[in-house]
Formats: sequence, C-alpha cells, structure tokens
Amino acid sequence: MSELSDKPVLVTCGLPYANGKAHVGHLRTYVPADIYVRSLKKEGREAVFVCGSDTHGTPIVVNAEQLGTTPGKLVEEYHTHFEDIFKRLGINFDSFGTTDDKENHVRTIEIVSRLIEKGYVYPKTIEIAYCPKCDRSLPDRYVEGTCPYCGENARGDECDQGCGKHLEPGELKTPVCTICGGSAEYRKQEHFFFKLSEFSDYLMNYLSNELGGTTNARNYALGWVKQGLDDWCITRNLEWGVKFPGHEELVVYVWVDAPIGYMAFTEEWATRTGGSWEKFWKGDGEIIHFIGGDITYHHCIFWPAMLKGADYSSPTAVVASGMVKIEDKTFSKSRGYVVWVGEDYLDHGFHPDLLRYYLASYTSHTKELNFSWRVLQEKINTELVAVLGNFLYRTMLFAFKNYGEIPAGEIEPEIKEEIEKTLKEVGDAMGDYEFKKAVDTAMTLASYGNSYFQAREPWKLVKEDKEACGQVLYNCLQLGKALTLLFEPVLPGSMERAWEGFGLEGSVHEAEYGEALVPLKSGSPMPEPQILFTKLEDDKIGEMEAISSQRIKEAVEKQAAKKGEKKGEEKEVTKSEGMPLKAEGKTETLEEKTVERVEEKTVEKVEEKIAEKFEEEALPLIDYEDFAKLDLRVGKVLVAEKIKKSKKLLRLEVDIGEAEPRQLVAGMASYYEPEEMIGKQIIVLANLKPVKLCGVKSNGMMLAAEDGEIVAALMSDNKELGPGSKIR
Ligand code: 2FM
Ligand code: ZN
Repeated sequence: MSELSDKPVLVTCGLPYANGKAHVGHLRTYVPADIYVRSLKKEGREAVFVCGSDTHGTPIVVNAEQLGTTPGKLVEEYHTHFEDIFKRLGINFDSFGTTDDKENHVRTIEIVSRLIEKGYVYPKTIEIAYCPKCDRSLPDRYVEGTCPYCGENARGDECDQGCGKHLEPGELKTPVCTICGGSAEYRKQEHFFFKLSEFSDYLMNYLSNELGGTTNARNYALGWVKQGLDDWCITRNLEWGVKFPGHEELVVYVWVDAPIGYMAFTEEWATRTGGSWEKFWKGDGEIIHFIGGDITYHHCIFWPAMLKGADYSSPTAVVASGMVKIEDKTFSKSRGYVVWVGEDYLDHGFHPDLLRYYLASYTSHTKELNFSWRVLQEKINTELVAVLGNFLYRTMLFAFKNYGEIPAGEIEPEIKEEIEKTLKEVGDAMGDYEFKKAVDTAMTLASYGNSYFQAREPWKLVKEDKEACGQVLYNCLQLGKALTLLFEPVLPGSMERAWEGFGLEGSVHEAEYGEALVPLKSGSPMPEPQILFTKLEDDKIGEMEAISSQRIKEAVEKQAAKKGEKKGEEKEVTKSEGMPLKAEGKTETLEEKTVERVEEKTVEKVEEKIAEKFEEEALPLIDYEDFAKLDLRVGKVLVAEKIKKSKKLLRLEVDIGEAEPRQLVAGMASYYEPEEMIGKQIIVLANLKPVKLCGVKSNGMMLAAEDGEIVAALMSDNKELGPGSKIR
C-alpha cells in the first residue's frame, strides 16, 4: 500500500440512513471499503472496520410520521435490514452500531459541550420556517421552497435538485410546509452556531498538506474553503435526536451526531474486544473515511473542524466514490431509479461475489458507474468465468485427476517473478484506492496462467513425461494459490472454496499476501475440485432487465404525472429529460421511430462511406503534419456486445489508457463474435469526432482492414502493449 505507514488503520463507511432498503448505489462505498480492509489485513496491517445506521434527522421523522409509526421502530427495522444485507454480501464490519446508541449520545454531548466550553458555539436569533396551520417549526425536510443560489426547487437543508448546496435555516425562498402543503412563514428563534469560519486557515492547511485519499474530495473541499466558510447552525427544533446540552427543546443537527457515530462505533468495538479506540481518535492511528462523493462537504469541512475544535485526531484520508446511475439517472429510491440489493439481486440467487467484482472492476472508484445487467453479465462471463475460473478449475482438475495430490516440483524463477510483480502492483493500486487497476492486474496474472498452461500442453506431456508434467502443474497450482490470495478481498466466498480446492490449510481470509510465494507442499492431497463460477445466461439477465425497465417505466410515469399535476392545464411538456411521456404516447412513438430511422440512415451512410473509401485506389499524398493530427492508440477490448437494432454493429468498450474505457461502435458484427473481440488489442483512432450510431455513441473509431470478403480488425495477439500506447 503506497500511501500508508505501518500504523493501525480505522476504516469507516458513510452511515446509511435507516430509512429505506439497501440499493446497489449504496454498495459503491461499502464494497470497495471492505475490499480495502481485507487487503490491508492481507498486507499484515492492523485494521478495524466500523459503520452503523444513521438514525436521526428529519427524513426519518417525516417518514415515520407518514407511516404512522415511531422513528425508533422505523430505524430498528432498517438497521436490521442493512446489517443482514451487509452480512450476505461479505461486508464484515467489526462494529455496526446506530447513532441512537447510548455511546453516541454520550460522545456527542461530550464533544458539543467541549466546543461550547472552548467558545466555538454561540447563540444567535435567526428566522426559522414556521407553519401557522400546523403550528410548528419546520426544520430541514419539513420545508421546501426555492434555492436562493440557483432558483431550483430545494429542501430546507439542501438544494437536492439544483446546485447541491447545503442550505442553512432561513435561506430558502417561498417556504412551503411539507406536511400540509400550506405556505410557511419565517419566525424569529434562538439557535446555536458553530464558528466554522474560525477554522478556515486550519482547513486550508489540512486539506492542502495533510489529508490523503482521492483528489476529487480534497479539491472540492479546498474550493469551498477558498470561497469562504460561514458559521454553521447546529441545532434543530425536534424531539428525535441527541439533545443539545442545556436545551431540552433542541436536538443537534443530524450532521453533528452522525460522524461522531464513527467514534462511538469504535468505542463499541473497543469495549467488546478490549481494543483501544483512543489510539485512533486521540493517538496517531490512521483514520480513513470511505464516502459517496455527495457528502464530501460534511466529511472534509464540518467534520475535521469539529474534531480539531474538540481536540481529537484528524482523519488521514477521505475516499470519495462516484455515484451509481441507472439509465443515466442518479439512483433515487424516492423517484424509483433503483436496483434493490435484496429483492432484485440476492433473492434471485445471484452470488454476492459477482456484484462485488462488477462494482470494483467496472470503472475507477471516483467515476460514475452506470449500472447495467448486460455489462455485469459480460464481465462475469468473459472475465470471471473465462479467465480466472477457467484457470483455477482446469489446474485443479488436471492435478486432481492425474496426481490426486500436489505433484513434486518447485517454483520456476519466471513464475516467482510474475507473482512478485503482481503482488507489488496490486498492493500499490490498493494503496492508491484504484480498485479497478488492482483487479485488472490480478486478472492479468490469471491470463498469464492460462497462456502458460496452454503453451506447456500438460495434456500431451502427461503421456510422455509425467514428472515434467508434474513440474508444470506445480507452477500452475502455485499461480492458483497466489490468485486465490489476490482475489480474496474481492471474491471472499469463491476464493474460500478455491483455497479448499487446492487442499490448503487454514482460512484464506486470515492468510496474508506473503503466503503467495510460500511453496506448496508436494504430496499434500487435493479434494475433488468444484466449478467456481458459472456463466450468467441471457434469459436470466433478460428477466432482470425487464424488472428494471418496468420499475423505471413506472418511475417515469409517476414523475410525468407529478409534473402534469404541477403544470395543471399546461399541455406543453419538455423532452429535456429524454423520457417518454404517457400522455403523449402516440406522438412520442412516432418521434422515436423517426429518430430510429434517422440513425439507421446514418449507419448506412457511414457504412457506404467506409465502403467507398475501400474502393478508392489512389489517395493523395499527405504531409507528416496531417498524419500527426491522428491520435492513434493501442486499445484493449474490455466489453463487446451486439447492438440490438443493427446486424453489422458491435458496441465496444476499449481501454485506451484513459481513466475510463472508451465506447466505440464498430461494423464488425458480421466478421467477429463479440466474445472473440474481448481481450484483443486493436488500433483506435481516438480523436475522431463522436457520432451516434443506432442510438449508441461512438467516441472514436476502431481500425480494420479488408481483403475481398475478409475483414479483420488490426490487432496483435503476440506482444502485449500497454493500453493507450501511441502509434507513430
Ligand atoms: O448521506 C447519508 O446517507 C448520511 N446518512 C451519511 C452520514 S455519514 C456520517 F456519519 F457522517
Ligand atoms: Zn440551488
């Protein structure tokens, strides 16, 4: 791990609100954090992993009120739900508490009292939204109105549909009560403020020189500090929450007691295990927060300032993930853009490791991830099944059938070198929070294993020289052992079975990376191997896609109806969101058809143009400067799939050395099966203006050559060049 020292590490995950079910969007934080912790342990580091349910705040109170239950009952139900989902996914927290636990009340009161004592908290009379009809104050989600910064519809504490800014009480324009829908008014009331502005210099230095993690978090936060920080209102008129010291009528704002939960859960872990929570929060142990990018402000501004003010240690790193989208819309349970982890995934019998693999390896951690059942299927079938699973199973099976034990042999220097190199690269990538890179690097070792197996032809060798064949197998098995350790953080369940398959003792979860180079014991028995991964069939994925489409369709209809209600008689409906609208079904369908036809025509035109180009005999000579304008690069095909509307086109995702794969549309479907393209190196023209073909954006062009009836991708199967290598 490149970034860290040898100190003990506390890893936390943003606390899920105990207010709804777990969806795939949540996992973007929890799965990589779990992978990271498992990897730390594999490096021999002491790591503690804590999380818990966020149980306070107005969304929970409003929801409980609407459901006719109490906030306590509501959060208990969802706390149990999250605990269960995390267990089923192999996300192993050392402590999973709730912010309503006694420990958190006590720690929050202690910290707030300390901030008061040190003069960082002061009372101020402000305007608070008040509903005369309901006769109550309206904190946060109890009030909606217009954002003073961007003019969008916003909630009391957050401009959730516009600029995303945190809003202070009293800032919202034209406030409306969310309980009765009536106009609210502003009334004067005394609240308490934290002197955030006094921490500007501290934060500037801390963010610039001390805080590690992903650069997105740090850079955003620095930008906010440079804009100037306002003091922060930390009290609310609510019953449910942690009482503000000395004021029974007030609770602290949820964003005060939620991060303090990280400390309380560490204390709960310490009490249970005899460990020390102080070594993290008062000592120099590392603290690493994994969060969704949307809560960067709270973790990089409010939280370190609070900790500093109360004399606790500061977080070492904030690792902020990109958001998960579905059909290009941010996951939103209230709007229906969602894939539930329980009912849409685990309950359909999908193995948790497959989703873990997909989330960790699809794109870099800080980038957006557009959830797709097809891509999940593609990655599982072409990578887990065809590369890793294939290598591990064929090796185990061959050894089991022909020897029944680990054959005699020793690790060849070349194999040792490959393992050492991979261990180093995976460790570095994990240390940089580059989970995709870590997974891809480990997968390259599995590909290497397959090539080694193939090249040595043990199925022939076993008949000619069983001892020499045993040596080949020994190397394959050692590679298999290394792969099992390397993949355990990502695929804990499957790698446990692989570990048993190699007849290895102890638990793969406890074993460290260093074990990868410990030679296997020749002569130790091997059990009959089991297949580790099986292909995801088209039918099953089709079924899942249908469920998702249905849910999105309903969400779209619901939103359209809501919009319609808002607009009243107004018939004009904008298409800016690209959603088909029920009321306009006929026109939309016609329009859609027109769009489809235009796209088909474009495809034909492009294909004609390509054909014309092939027919042209002599092209004019060009200068080198003209050639230099072409950004030609080596690309590795990661994903290849047929495009439904076209017989000729394939959709490709190609690694060309950029943070994210490039999507290309290539006219290769008549010449290659998608599976044949995956893993191949091709040449890509990277700076061709993007075009849309059959509704799919092609951001560049794959080069191919034609010879009569034969069309071939220009690709190399021999020497592997790094993706993005320039062609000159
Ligand atoms: O945004 C959220 O989902 C919050 N419940 C996260 C809280 S993290 C914390 F504890 F600071
Ligand atoms: Zn706004």
